[in-house]
Amino acid sequence: MGVRDSVTTRAGQSHEGGAGIVFGRAGRGPSSAWRFRPVSRARTRWLRSLSPGDHVILGDDAYGGTYRLLTRIFGNWGLTISTVDLEDLDAVRSAIRESSKMIWLETPSNPLLKVVSISALSEVAHEHGAMLVVDNTFATPYLQRPLTLGADVVVHSTTKYVGGHSDVLGGFVATNNDVFGRDVAISPVRDRRGTGSLDCYLLLRGLKTLGVRMDRHCSNASAIATFLSSHAR
Ligand SMILES: Cc1ncc(COP(=O)(O)O)c(C=O)c1O
Repeated sequence: MGVRDSVTTRAGQSHEGGAGIVFGRAGRGPSSAWRFRPVSRARTRWLRSLSPGDHVILGDDAYGGTYRLLTRIFGNWGLTISTVDLEDLDAVRSAIRESSKMIWLETPSNPLLKVVSISALSEVAHEHGAMLVVDNTFATPYLQRPLTLGADVVVHSTTKYVGGHSDVLGGFVATNNDVFGRDVAISPVRDRRGTGSLDCYLLLRGLKTLGVRMDRHCSNASAIATFLSSHAR
């Protein structure tokens, strides 16, 4: 795995490299991994690999910030966007155009917690020459490894479960695609988008308890679901 140090003040700060290596391992096998601050910059980085005229398919209940970024900012720049129920693969196939370059999936999604098969959607994307980007913020790398299921790129907001203490903003991108990887590698340096040492330290602290916290989230959610499924109302 090639971890690139992102830069806030200088390249090669020890926390920067440390956070990248741990996130890379958490992603299980990406060839390249970068941290951004905040995740909207991680999202922006991938969207800028597209060109005006390209078409992006987005889940119909994607996080509002991603929807607004695509439609209001990148829409003005010339990207065309279709929102589709990504659980319905036939609807995805019908939405694909010659110019479709990217499918952007959240699974589970925010807000409706829809769960989509990453491997099935990656097959549809790849059949048509599009890449599949997965926002894995809700599942975290502890529960789901999109790159092993056929995704080309994974983005996380590390502000949430990964950070775990509501005291740090961050984003993380990982890919197996060396061409995209090389392109993104220069971005933190060029755009001064790296993560500061304190934020990297806080993220590393959060990662140490990610497993136990996610196990507890799952058992709590399961107890509530069991209670509600047998409730009279
Ligand atoms: C699925 C998902 N992705 C990305 C984000 C944005 O993350 P950040 O606040 O770190 O920019 C959110 C925020 O709620 C989210 O729910």
